[in-house]
Amino acid sequence: MAIDQRHFRDVMGTFATGVTIITTVVSGAPHGITANSFSSVSLDPPLVLFCLGRSSTNFDAFMETDNFAVNILSASQDKLSTHFAMFEGDRFDGTAWNAWETGAPILDGVISAADCVLEARHDAGDHVIIVGRALRAETVLDAAPLLYHRGRYAALASE
Ligand SMILES: Cc1cc2nc3c(=O)[nH]c(=O)nc-3n(C[C@H](O)[C@H](O)[C@H](O)COP(=O)(O)O)c2cc1C
Repeated sequence: MAIDQRHFRDVMGTFATGVTIITTVVSGAPHGITANSFSSVSLDPPLVLFCLGRSSTNFDAFMETDNFAVNILSASQDKLSTHFAMFEGDRFDGTAWNAWETGAPILDGVISAADCVLEARHDAGDHVIIVGRALRAETVLDAAPLLYHRGRYAALASE
């Protein structure tokens, strides 16, 4: 019996996550998308993954590139998360960032980031699993994380 998509999404949404913005640079142009499908995968070598929807307007950029950065958002960055999920213009206009090794944008105000080179892509239904090998990973801010649960932003109970 096929599971209704909305139902499946609602059930999976009970899994609380952090929030990331995954960025990349293609021919000098930065691209970025909010994603909560991020996971660390392996310590040796240091691998991470995220899942990218095929319908994303950034899909082609992430298929062309061999670099990406994972930006782990702090509790005060809920508006930035919405911006990188919804805004249809240049998402980097007015957003401060710098680059580490690969050139992928590391955004100001994030708790930590991992600068990655592409390791593998795996087809997965209407998404593609993108695996990266971290060249550099740093915690740059001692702040509470932004959380996401049941379609809403949340904060740690202790914060
Ligand atoms: C909290 C949150 C988490 C998201 N996680 C993902 C994700 O893991 N993968 C993905 O492809 N899209 C994810 N999205 C949706 C994208 O951020 C974006 O809205 C969607 O891809 C459409 O915009 P685009 O065409 O610019 O990519 C998420 C959105 C939000 C608000």
